[in-house]
Formats: sequence, structure tokens, C-alpha cells
Amino acid sequence: SNIPLAIAIDGPAAAGKSTVAKRVAHQLSYIYIDTGAMYRSLTLKAIQSGADLEKESELAVLLKATDIELIQKRDGQHVMMDGEDVSHDIRTNEVTSQVSIVAKHREVREEMVRRQQELVEERGVVMDGRDIGTHVIPDAEVKIFMIASVEERAERRHKENLEKGFTSDLEQLKMEIRKRDELDSKRETAPLVKAEDAIEVDTTSLTIEEVVSQIVTIVKKKQIREG
Ligand code: CDP
Ligand code: CDP
Repeated sequence: SNIPLAIAIDGPAAAGKSTVAKRVAHQLSYIYIDTGAMYRSLTLKAIQSGADLEKESELAVLLKATDIELIQKRDGQHVMMDGEDVSHDIRTNEVTSQVSIVAKHREVREEMVRRQQELVEERGVVMDGRDIGTHVIPDAEVKIFMIASVEERAERRHKENLEKGFTSDLEQLKMEIRKRDELDSKRETAPLVKAEDAIEVDTTSLTIEEVVSQIVTIVKKKQIREG
């Protein structure tokens, strides 16, 4: 049986969530939803508008006035903010270094979760983030908690930066990843934590293909049991 499921993928920065989630979605003909892109979009807008990132109500008001859309194009997913393509602008170091501050606020998270839940009204979805299995889709049929050592994660980002022709400092990346993981894990509202019923996948010494096939196997087994 091929009943469509909801797949939640959570974990720390650069564990491989989005790369793997996209491929799993493609193999199963599911929709992929990148929730990190939504927090990054609000962070970009907050920086552009000179908002105080520590002010919860200011950010909540800003978010209410911000339209964020994830659209599928032939060359992949694009992020549109108020009608403008911000796919690249949300990946800068500036946004990356501030996003966990914006994402810690309860009022911001409540609105984001509300919007994300609207996107999962139908099954056949792979969603990645930090609180998907715990808060956004607590009844997801498949929950994955993806981890990897901080050294491996920094190496992966480093390699990615160099391939794109960006300057990159491995030690700096390690520090930034540790800092962001700490902020995400220690915040009061919906911290990064493995859901009780999530399956932990350590990708440290696995290839992308190996991780994808592990998850697809988990999905197929689940479909047999559900169907
Ligand atoms: O891809 P990367 O791991 O660098 O980050 P991301 O998935 O784009 O998420 C960026 C940041 O958004 C995270 O570090 C969290 O602070 C926040 N986030 C969150 O709080 N909850 C989510 N569901 C997704 C992202
Ligand atoms: O979404 P998240 O921040 O968890 O990670 P990502 O952006 O999907 O992956 C970070 C980098 O690690 C990408 O360049 C992937 O190609 C790479 N990667 C890898 O080398 N081996 C894996 N098993 C998974 C991802």
C-alpha cells in the first residue's frame, strides 16, 4: 500500500536534514517544506527594517505583516518574501548568525507553527526543522532525529562554502554551529529536542544516499503496517 504519510525531520544545524528531506520527498513524490527558510525570511526582514531582534512583540507584528511562500520551480525550491525571491539572501552569514535569536520568541513560533500546520493539511509531506516532530506535526507517522558530530557538520558546511566560491573558516564554522545548537536547544519555547517516538539517525559516517535509503525504508515499513 502507498498511503501518503507525514515525515518529520529534526536535528541540529548541518546534520543533512534539508539535503536528505528533498531527496526523500522526490523519491516518494511528496512535497518538501523547509521551515528554517521561514525563520530565516523573518530574520532577513527584521534586519532590513532595523527591528530590535530581542523584542518579541515587535517581531510578532512584523511577521503578521510578512507574506512568506515556498514555491517549487524546476530548479528547486524558492523562497518568496512579500513577492520577492529571497532564496539567496536568507542564507548569508548575517542571517544565519541572528536567526536563532528571532526563532526563540514564543509569539513568533506560534504564528510560524500555525502557518506550517496549514501547509500539512494533506499527507504526503516531508518537513524539516527543529520542532516538527514535537510541535508542528506531533502525529507524524515517521519522525527522524538526524544528528552528526559537530566536526563533521562543520566540515560539510566548509566544503559547501568552498564549492560555492565563498571564503570559509572551519574553526569559525564550528563555533557558529555550536552557538546556534545551544540557543536552539536551550530556548524556553519548543527547543530542539528528540521527540520520544523519533528514530535517531547518526549521519556522521553515512553518505547522503545511505541516509535517504534508510529513511525511505522506514517509510515503506510504516506504510505496510498502516495499510
Ligand atoms: O540549515 P540550517 O541547519 O543551517 O538551519 P535552518 O534549518 O535553515 O534553520 C535556521 C534556524 O531557524 C535554526 O537554527 C533555528 O533557530 C530556527 N528554526 C527553528 O527554530 N525551528 C524550525 N522548525 C526551523 C528552524
Ligand atoms: O539541513 P541541514 O542544515 O541539516 O543540512 P544540509 O544543508 O542538508 O547539509 C549540510 C551539508 O552536508 C550539505 O552540503 C550536504 O551535501 C552535506 N551532507 C553530507 O555530506 N552527507 C550527508 N550524509 C548529509 C549531508
